[in-house]
Amino acid sequence: VLLCLCCCSSWLGGLACIFSTSLLFQILVRPCSNGGGLFFCPQSPNAPSILSSKDRTAYHFQPPKNWINDPCGPMYYNGIYHEFYQYNPDGSFNPNTSYNIVWGHSVSTDLVNWITLEPAIEPDTPNDIKGCWSGSATIVSGDQPVIIYTGVIDIEKHQVQNIALPKNRSDPYLREWTKAGNNPVIQSGVPGLNSGQFRDPTTGWIGPDGLWRIAVGAQLNGYGAALLYKSEDFLNWTRVDHPLYSSNASIMFECLDFFAVLPGSNNGLDMSSAIPNGAKHVLKMGMNFGEDVYVIGVYDLKRDAFVPDTDDSRLWPRIDYGNFYASKTFFDSKHGRRIIWAWTTETDSSSDDIAKGWAGIYSFPRTIWLDNDGKRLLQWPVEEIESLRRNEINHQELELKKGDLFEIKGIDTLQADIEIDFELTSIDDADPFNPSWLFDTEKHCQEADASVHGGIGPFGLVILASDNMEEHTVVHFRVYKSQKNYMILMCSDLRRSSLTPGLDTPAYGGFFEFDLEKERKISLRTLIDRSAVESFGGGGRVCIMARVYPVSLVDDDHQPHVYAFNNGSATVRVPHLRAWSMRRAQVSA
Ligand SMILES: *[C@@H]1O[C@H](CO)[C@@H](O)[C@H](O)[C@H]1NC(C)=O
Ligand SMILES: *[C@@H]1O[C@H](CO)[C@@H](O)[C@H](O)[C@H]1NC(C)=O
Ligand SMILES: *[C@@H]1O[C@H](CO)[C@@H](O)[C@H](O)[C@H]1NC(C)=O
Ligand SMILES: *[C@@H]1O[C@H](CO)[C@@H](O)[C@H](O)[C@H]1NC(C)=O
Ligand SMILES: *[C@@H]1O[C@H](CO)[C@@H](O)[C@H](O)[C@H]1NC(C)=O
Repeated sequence: VLLCLCCCSSWLGGLACIFSTSLLFQILVRPCSNGGGLFFCPQSPNAPSILSSKDRTAYHFQPPKNWINDPCGPMYYNGIYHEFYQYNPDGSFNPNTSYNIVWGHSVSTDLVNWITLEPAIEPDTPNDIKGCWSGSATIVSGDQPVIIYTGVIDIEKHQVQNIALPKNRSDPYLREWTKAGNNPVIQSGVPGLNSGQFRDPTTGWIGPDGLWRIAVGAQLNGYGAALLYKSEDFLNWTRVDHPLYSSNASIMFECLDFFAVLPGSNNGLDMSSAIPNGAKHVLKMGMNFGEDVYVIGVYDLKRDAFVPDTDDSRLWPRIDYGNFYASKTFFDSKHGRRIIWAWTTETDSSSDDIAKGWAGIYSFPRTIWLDNDGKRLLQWPVEEIESLRRNEINHQELELKKGDLFEIKGIDTLQADIEIDFELTSIDDADPFNPSWLFDTEKHCQEADASVHGGIGPFGLVILASDNMEEHTVVHFRVYKSQKNYMILMCSDLRRSSLTPGLDTPAYGGFFEFDLEKERKISLRTLIDRSAVESFGGGGRVCIMARVYPVSLVDDDHQPHVYAFNNGSATVRVPHLRAWSMRRAQVSA
């Protein structure tokens, strides 16, 4: 296939298209369905309008108006959570050549309700005059927040790294930021480095020698690299002569994230302090300009290099298998946890975005930690989300036979949080697993969709369904027996989510391994927020963020339906189903 990858972390590279016919890209890149607009095709400018004020999400983060992309520099400082974001001050369109993307800024005390402030960093020096792109915040010496971000210096999009510091650390909101006098603190000038693909510096971490380190995403000799830099004072940076990691799995790594985790502990680790023995490290890479992939490994302190547990990039899991990119984590010292969130695009047309006046939301903040077996990250919405829950309904001991559809009533089905456990009555009926499915889960989710009866599954939820089911989104599981264990497929199938033509409506999917002999229950949690459907399977082993725009939402009186269903031969039990309506959070004031 010939694909046009329309870049970039800061999305400004929309004009730079990369063509590839390599096998790798065939495996990793999903072509657009319907010519719609996720990452690899530009949004179609003239699709029919599907405009509805009901599409605007009620508790997922977004500023009051305009275009956003990457989350930047999240941090917790003096009792306040800060979120910065790539923001187009001029409107709700992808800021193609307007060059003036800025760091928007919002603050919160609970990660649920947000106050919007003036932008924190804007292009006004020669080191960022063509845009203030993504970056990170680090709290140095316990009390000095420092932002390091990418500046674009000319229309060829040459990139350098700059520092900004709060003007007044006593201002609880840290409203104003001052750029360091010695910017740019890092310039390209490295043999083999493409200075137009050199961006998104990570949060700093401290090595055993007491020096700070950061990694910068880059294209080095044609392949993805995490360039490593060291500093004593966080201002004067020296490049380490080898990258932290590099791989031909992608032509560029952007939006890197590097952090330590302890197997089986859901406490986060602070990268500004010594990392305990037994910890593993995670390198998260934005690959192929649209996929957030992670690899677990060890940080070899002697070589100052990251060594992944597997180099086979085809097996690297995704943080989220849906519409989720440029994710960023931070250590939340208030609760001792690590939090992640990401940018989720609109998948309607760019003309719809201009009419709506807004484009882009963030996934709900999630706690992220390493599973007991050390092989997989788990994610779960931060518990603060529970402050939005109201009108709990619950059901116990339901039985879903093949073909059953159970309607979940009594909640606001446009704004809901649903937690459901599916218990298998027998595991003998599982169909055999074919490992080649791992390389194209979306195709498998299309072929083995909710109407294809299996031994165990499909079972799951039907969401945002119109009265006659013409429109609906299905989140479902299927259970397979592999040689060693059981493999669970989770799909979020958007293909019938809307009657509007021209939307990007794939069937997202991911697999996870599961010890069904020990644990017979597979859990599903889904956050429904108007045009957002965010699902967590198997306790957060596979997560899928999705956007949908059902036509039936346009009708004011219409409440869509939500159902639990089973279309597998084996009966599944639902020992527990709990659901809530969700209040509107303060995300736009
Ligand atoms: C940038 O995008 C805006 C909104 O879609 C459009 O009006 C403008 O023509 C675009 N500029 C270029 C140079 O493509
Ligand atoms: C810094 O912020 C504090 C708290 O808002 C304020 O009292 C103080 O006057 C500010 N200092 C300067 C120099 O603006
Ligand atoms: C920056 O750090 C390097 C390496 O540690 C050192 O040689 C150099 O003198 C420092 N420069 C400044 C201006 O401090
Ligand atoms: C990519 O790297 C892997 C191992 O790291 C190697 O086996 C493979 O040949 C490389 N492919 C290309 C196209 O260089
Ligand atoms: C279950 O399968 C039947 C028959 O294939 C199909 O008509 C129905 O739509 C399926 N249920 C769901 C929720 O997809």
